[in-house]
Amino acid sequence: MNLLDRLHAAVGTAGLVTDPDQLAGYLTDWRGAFRGAAAAVVRPASTAEVAATVRICHDAGVAVVPQGGNTGLCGGAVPDSSGRQIVLSLTRMRGVRVDRVNQTITVGAGTVLADVQAAAAEAGLLFPLSLGAEGSCTIGGNLATNAGGTAVLRYGTMRDLTLGLEVVLPDGRIWDGLRALRKDNTGYDLKHLFIGAEGTLGVITAAVLRLFPGVRARATAWVALPDVAAALDLIGVVLGWAGDRLTCFELMSKQATDFVAQRNPLRPHPWYALVELTDTLPDADLDEVLAHALAEAAVDDAVIAAGPAQTAALWALREGISEAQNHHGPSLKHDVTVPTGDLPAFVARTGAALRDALPGIRLVTYGHVGDGNLHYNLSKPVDADDAAFLASADELTRIVYDEVAAFDGSISAEHGLGQSKNETIARYKSDVELSLMRGIKQQLDPAGLMNPGKVLPTS
Ligand code: FAD
Ligand code: MLT
Ligand code: ZN
Repeated sequence: MNLLDRLHAAVGTAGLVTDPDQLAGYLTDWRGAFRGAAAAVVRPASTAEVAATVRICHDAGVAVVPQGGNTGLCGGAVPDSSGRQIVLSLTRMRGVRVDRVNQTITVGAGTVLADVQAAAAEAGLLFPLSLGAEGSCTIGGNLATNAGGTAVLRYGTMRDLTLGLEVVLPDGRIWDGLRALRKDNTGYDLKHLFIGAEGTLGVITAAVLRLFPGVRARATAWVALPDVAAALDLIGVVLGWAGDRLTCFELMSKQATDFVAQRNPLRPHPWYALVELTDTLPDADLDEVLAHALAEAAVDDAVIAAGPAQTAALWALREGISEAQNHHGPSLKHDVTVPTGDLPAFVARTGAALRDALPGIRLVTYGHVGDGNLHYNLSKPVDADDAAFLASADELTRIVYDEVAAFDGSISAEHGLGQSKNETIARYKSDVELSLMRGIKQQLDPAGLMNPGKVLPTS
């Protein structure tokens, strides 16, 4: 039997896609920045089918590219251009089971994040991971990228939210680590190898995730600020008033919000912040707490949302930036983090260097500043053509990343390396780090067939 016949025998007609029209959506990413080809897309419906698929590919020497919702921003889920790789889509691996006593949820890897949030809410609980792509990204993709999003400040990243995993290893063996324990010190914590590995060490098929008490009170403000230092001062003041009720602190440059069609409720200012407090007590008067904090801090202007509709409108303005930037020519995405206190100096220095290098460049700066993460994205000058801008991409990116390194930061806070930064990372990691990473890859995937060409430098 040839490869496709063997895959068909393992997953059936519903699990195998070879029609070019149906393949197309799996072969390019959300931004249209990466394109590949594939021999087929396999869509298994069970862990046993995933294991069979991976074993067949392993025995045939064929590379496997795991894919969830395909919303990743680094090309990690897109195959290469050879046409020989197999895309392994987890989107049929859906399902949730809430355990109220243990405050956990057991989830199939292909379950959409919003469905996990909804299942938790139905049980009166909270699954706090939240990001703009939550209507289509999957838990497997969230795990494989160690997703962050807007509530990391209070609840941590996907790594912090995970108790157990089930993984199909590159040779087709199944590792059942689907435990629901908060304490387990029996040696190396293997789940952390697969979280953030972007599908290069195995295929995540299921997970046990932590739940939290449900949110019963919320206050959201849209705040105008003169500069990044004022934003950090505001975080300090809000923490003083609200403590860990501060759940989200998102900062946006005027340029970033100008791209979005959603109406900005305040007049033009250099920077805006979206500040959100939440509480588990229904009668917590968070509007009042937020108003006190805003009165004490040096803000230029502010408005507190009067209800759920206004809250949703403010979030639409923040979360619309990523999509809106796609309509202004190619974007250079830099998902960086530096120690929070260094953000003002980082923004000032990097902005000056970029403007020297390319006058008129548009700095689309925004992000989860409460945890130190900025999306330091760049758009071309208004009149520049796409090709000329892309020709200067390496030089512009080098400026940004060298500044990040000067502040001892990271060139990927939450999106991963995928195929967009796997070569670049060699410049910013030590030889010791790179050799440990290569050693882990060699141990788990000696044949190099699990999402090759992603994360690790190829030379
Ligand atoms: P995919 O894009 O399908 O895959 C991403 C990577 O994970 C690939 O390397 C793939 O091979 C691997 N993978 C997928 N599923 C599995 C699996 N089951 N087992 C092993 N490997 C797997 N990210 C953030 O962290 N924070 C944000 O705030 C944020 N905002 C975003 C906003 C928008 C509008 C968009 C489009 C994206 C945003 N992202 C954000 C990026 C993206 O949504 C996340 O990285 C998300 O976690 C990817 O999930 P996915 O299911 O789409 O994964
Ligand atoms: C976001 O937070 O909106 C995304 O992670 C940023 C991006 O698309 O660059
Ligand atoms: Zn983000």
